[in-house]
Amino acid sequence: MIQIIPSILSCDFGRLAEEIRAVEAAGADAIHIDVMDGHFVPNISIGIPIVRAVRAVTQLPIDCHLMIAHPTQYLRAFAEAGADWISVHVETCDLATALPAIRALGCRAGAVLNPPTPVAAVLPYIGEADFFLVMSVDPGFAGQRFLPEALEKIRTLQHALHARTPATPIQIDGGITIENVGRAKAAGASLIVAASAIFQGRDYAATIAALRTG
Ligand code: DX5
Ligand code: ZN
Repeated sequence: MIQIIPSILSCDFGRLAEEIRAVEAAGADAIHIDVMDGHFVPNISIGIPIVRAVRAVTQLPIDCHLMIAHPTQYLRAFAEAGADWISVHVETCDLATALPAIRALGCRAGAVLNPPTPVAAVLPYIGEADFFLVMSVDPGFAGQRFLPEALEKIRTLQHALHARTPATPIQIDGGITIENVGRAKAAGASLIVAASAIFQGRDYAATIAALRTG
């Protein structure tokens, strides 16, 4: 099943509650929160208090994408703030420890890989991860250009998942537009994250519908 997951990185933070309610009313399936620390990625975004604030205004699953050093130190804090899904980068931690820790907190565990990281780096964690996130930009900023090399990685991962845990979904994040979303889905992605494509348009419902059917 295709799920459309707005990333609030491009929303109007001065009207955060309204923005969350608007994408929920427009058909969003979950809310993606990009957490950046200025170390693992060259930008600083938002953290635990914002997760709590989002939790207070929506029933949708909250998907916390941790682009931070030492993510395992913060898993409990994100879970207690209201995260339902927590994804951690294979470049930042030992997934053999982090993924079971996320599940033990009652959250869905995601394993993320950056554009330069080969799919082989996450294959050992099939069965341990509830979803995989293939980045289609170098993480750090919204509004970057989609890197089509992600498509081949998704196909490879999809093939590996098909043989072992076919129900495990693949998420894609970065540079997704109405124009390229079809290629991402054809490759095997079903959890579609988009920040600027949604929040920079006027009609959230139309964009979310187009991303779903495109
Ligand atoms: C990138 C973040 C993405 C980002 C996507 O570091 O992980 O979630 O917000 O933004 P767009 O959809 O504008 O590329
Ligand atoms: Zn993200």
